[in-house]
Amino acid sequence: MYIKNIKLKNFRNYRDLDLDFDRSRNVIIGENAQGKTNLIESIYLCAFSRSFRTRSAADMVMIGEKSASVSVEVFSDDLDKNISISLNDRGGKMIKKDGVVLRRTADLLNNLVVVVFSPEDLRIVKDGPEKRRDFINREMSQLRPSYYNLLKDYNSVLREKNALLKEGPESKNIDMLDIYDLQMAKYGIQIIRARRKFISRLSEIAGGIHSRISGGTEEMRIQYKENTDDQVLQDTIFLQREKELRLGHAIAGPHRDDMEFYINGMNARNYGSQGQQRTIALSLKLAEIKIAKEMLGENPVLILDDVLSEFDLKRQSFLFNEIEDVQQFLTSAEVNRQLIENMDEGWVFQVKNGIARRVTGDLSEIYTGGGSDEVENRK
Ligand SMILES: Nc1ncnc2c1ncn2[C@@H]1O[C@H](COP(=O)(O)OP(=O)(O)OP(=O)(O)O)[C@@H](O)[C@H]1O
Ligand SMILES: [Mg+2]
Repeated sequence: MYIKNIKLKNFRNYRDLDLDFDRSRNVIIGENAQGKTNLIESIYLCAFSRSFRTRSAADMVMIGEKSASVSVEVFSDDLDKNISISLNDRGGKMIKKDGVVLRRTADLLNNLVVVVFSPEDLRIVKDGPEKRRDFINREMSQLRPSYYNLLKDYNSVLREKNALLKEGPESKNIDMLDIYDLQMAKYGIQIIRARRKFISRLSEIAGGIHSRISGGTEEMRIQYKENTDDQVLQDTIFLQREKELRLGHAIAGPHRDDMEFYINGMNARNYGSQGQQRTIALSLKLAEIKIAKEMLGENPVLILDDVLSEFDLKRQSFLFNEIEDVQQFLTSAEVNRQLIENMDEGWVFQVKNGIARRVTGDLSEIYTGGGSDEVENRK
């Protein structure tokens, strides 16, 4: 699939944008704070119905305005689709597909599938477990909206159970715990089984990619760390009751799962070098693309926000050789002259103060616009 066009109205620092994209590579260049990530965020919003950097839809509305909108034309499944999202300054949000209102997020997911790679993804091995759970949940939800619904059901029981546990053993509703535990076990088992399958496939594919990047010297695998066994989930939850009441929150169940990465049998979190951890992150993203292709029958859109400069030339060229027929969006605060000059296809855009435009013909205008002071202005 690929994005043909985007229209933004009062979205962040974009007053009014109407931009066509190339179906291969789109390089977005601009100095800091000009709107590169805002543009990426608007695409992400159309894929997930939420932002990756704010919980409040109101933040995305241009300051001083009452409402904003994003509309993308997506070509997928041999069809043109339109996804549009309107936001208002009170946090309201309305999603439409081809003009029809979608009431549930699950109906939006998987219309526009994006794999986003940003500098913070490079820390996935080292970060806390919630980052890895977010990664798994996000990827699985995109590809299988039924997983998203399952997770939503599980989390809503979890929230109610935690509220009750907080009230303590004296609560008059304490009997409800049995029902909550039963429901958590019912949804939890399905979540665990789905994750098991997904992570095992992820390990296979990412492991293969990692091995090729490392020139065959490193064998990488991913292990799903289940907090509880699905066979005995309900018993385990029950056995933790006393402890849960004491702590005031639920401790048993897949909301505390994690995954671990091993290189040549050693835990990469404790023993991996920074370079190895980066290679894992890159392998994961490339594996995501392949899994999406397997499950959807077409490639997702790849977005690299400010991440290219984090890789050496070897990893950069691996990235581009590995993906074929994938629409890409690459943002950068500096002009990567080599990348642009080696580009046999694709378009270049310049973003300046909420205005984005395609640079055609002679690219020297962005080179001279940047030059040495651009380098100095970098973060
Ligand atoms: N709701 C809003 N209304 C108006 N402007 C906003 C809003 N939200 C953010 N901005 C502006 O958008 C700019 C940041 O844009 P963005 O994060 O896209 O920068 P960037 O080009 O990705 O920069 P960098 O290279 O530093 O990552 C800031 O100047 C900020 O003030
Ligand atoms: Mg940015």
